[in-house]
Amino acid sequence: MAQKFMSIGLAVRCCVALGMVVSSGSALADPNVATVESPGKVLSVSVLVAPDGRLSYKIDRKGEPVIAPSRLGFVLASEKPLDSGFALERNVVTDHDDTWEQPWGERRYVRNHYRQMRVDVKKNDGRRLAIVFRVFDDGVGFRYEFPKQANNRAVHIADELTEFVVARPATAWWQQAGEVWALEYPIQKSPLREVGMANTPMTVKMDNGTHIAFHEAALVDYASMWLRRVEGQRLRAHLTPSATGAPVVRSGAFTTPWRTMQIADNAAGLYMSDLVLNLNEPNKLGDVSWVKPSKYVGVWWDMHLETKSWANGPKLGATTEYTKRYIDFAAKNGFRGVLVEGWNPGWDSDWAGNGADMDFTKSNPRFDLPALAAYGKERGVHIIGHHETGGNIAHYEKQLDAALKLYARNGVDSIKTGYVTDGGAAQFMGKNGKIHFGYTDSQEGVRHYQKVIEEAARYKIAINTHEPVKDTGLRRTYPNWISREGARGVEYNAWGEPPNTVDHEANIVFTRMLSGPLDYTPGILSLEGKGKKPFNSTQAKQLANFVLIYSPVVMAADLIEHYERYPAAFKFIQDVPTDWQDTRVIHGEVGEYATIARKDRKSDAWYVGSVTDGNARTLDMPLSFLDQGKTYVAEIYRDGDDADYRSEKRFSLAVEKRNVTSGDTLKLKLAPGGGQAIRLVPVK
Ligand code: NOJ
Ligand code: CA
Repeated sequence: MAQKFMSIGLAVRCCVALGMVVSSGSALADPNVATVESPGKVLSVSVLVAPDGRLSYKIDRKGEPVIAPSRLGFVLASEKPLDSGFALERNVVTDHDDTWEQPWGERRYVRNHYRQMRVDVKKNDGRRLAIVFRVFDDGVGFRYEFPKQANNRAVHIADELTEFVVARPATAWWQQAGEVWALEYPIQKSPLREVGMANTPMTVKMDNGTHIAFHEAALVDYASMWLRRVEGQRLRAHLTPSATGAPVVRSGAFTTPWRTMQIADNAAGLYMSDLVLNLNEPNKLGDVSWVKPSKYVGVWWDMHLETKSWANGPKLGATTEYTKRYIDFAAKNGFRGVLVEGWNPGWDSDWAGNGADMDFTKSNPRFDLPALAAYGKERGVHIIGHHETGGNIAHYEKQLDAALKLYARNGVDSIKTGYVTDGGAAQFMGKNGKIHFGYTDSQEGVRHYQKVIEEAARYKIAINTHEPVKDTGLRRTYPNWISREGARGVEYNAWGEPPNTVDHEANIVFTRMLSGPLDYTPGILSLEGKGKKPFNSTQAKQLANFVLIYSPVVMAADLIEHYERYPAAFKFIQDVPTDWQDTRVIHGEVGEYATIARKDRKSDAWYVGSVTDGNARTLDMPLSFLDQGKTYVAEIYRDGDDADYRSEKRFSLAVEKRNVTSGDTLKLKLAPGGGQAIRLVPVK
């Protein structure tokens, strides 16, 4: 039987930049239950103690169960499990409401409004743990706090017992975890009862329409969480295995990442939630005006088409001459950056999953970095650096400081990194001085990505990670972590084996994009990959992706000659910004369609991106987000009347202008596999 549970209201004071914190205690009728409601009383969370002292929690939404009683606890490798024999010692409830400003993002101001319940528990052998719940109207985050252990001994976490039991029959959109291609699988749709081992974010829709997205926030010095379906609709946190022992080893007092559930009436509501960002620590870097949201072009698509190569030889892309062409094009068309891959020695051998020959401290003989940096500078264009590690983290860490120095010396202020290797095959340096293999989302991997971000910040360099660990909102704390991949990008359309499915964007908006920016590399107006193989999109959809798939750094990924071939469509790519004052999801269904409107950070213009799957649709878009009383010119880039992604008509694009006001509703006519992009500029 659980011991006596003291319920106390403590006066808690803490400091926030804006807003207020008040405190209250929750009155406990039952010593084995502690309950807290969200500020608007939409959600309610209870922690329950069973007669044998097992801990669980449950979540109700508007009085209806969303998460049925789900276990809490740990299996440890270093001592007996923290699984039962617990008693609630006390709980403290505090309120928090403030608004903070993002240096860059989907919206400038973010409201952080929650009620927190901290529950302290003690096991019958004397060991203690706290579980902290933050309950928002649009979701719940909770994490465990471990106190410093006796004699400061380390905690070896073998497994979490944390569970998520979905209360009603549900459909899931998910991606397998622990597999060869890491985060680069198509999103699958299945009954939740058929999910295996899933990565997060995972989105589910219950039969009453309520949507839940499972994820985590502030993944620092801990293994990434996969979700394993135990039985029925019961999911359990599964920590990414370590090659060297328990998945997580920590000493001193520490907290786990937040386990998060965004909960909304519909898919749009999930995307509108800022819960994951709110659960991260504020900016630790201070002034980050050196982090520049912007568009870029690159010596890149050629390599994926195999018309150029990363390796030395007649097809080498990274030459001084070819890069100058891209710098000139960028200068002429308003792009801040030019990415150059293959600029350094190491690409001639079999680099993927190897990386041992990569040298990040010098250029290949045909690429004059200082000269190109100077050439760009005269034209207002910045070279974007590239570090492809082939997953050889041990090798990369040895060169990291010298590599950053070289770029910093040449005025390179952002770097794309890459870790092309199979799942579980990244190479780490062990404490014994020997190489071992492991997952990039293991605790070791998480530490490595973090190290790169922190070291790059010292040189005022922003990082865009490819083959990354999943995003858990750390951009709030480290705003130089400007973007990442971690999804099937447009490169799959170049390889064509097979290209991305026609519903890909409608899927990732409401799954992968809930975690943060994606360096998707949109804008392939030529609509074909290697060997001229067409892929599943109309031209209008390529434009819509610039608004829909958020990233503060966006690559217009096609070749110069293709942009020159389609000047009308290219105009939208020139105009669209990458940093936003505000974002509204107009509507959407996971995997079917989505429409997002965003307001430019630097002007009064709005931009809209809308996409559909393989089905044609006509969607009503009320313009009520526009300022009342103003007239706007709507520059509309829509699928032509005959457009269809399955034929040559995928190039059919109509560009129109008309005047609109906030009282108007536009009809978005989307072709099969199509989309629409709109720029709305106030009339002077
Ligand atoms: C995979 C990345 O996603 C891609 O953008 C890059 O070109 C290659 N790796 C080579 O680094
Ligand atoms: Ca990739």
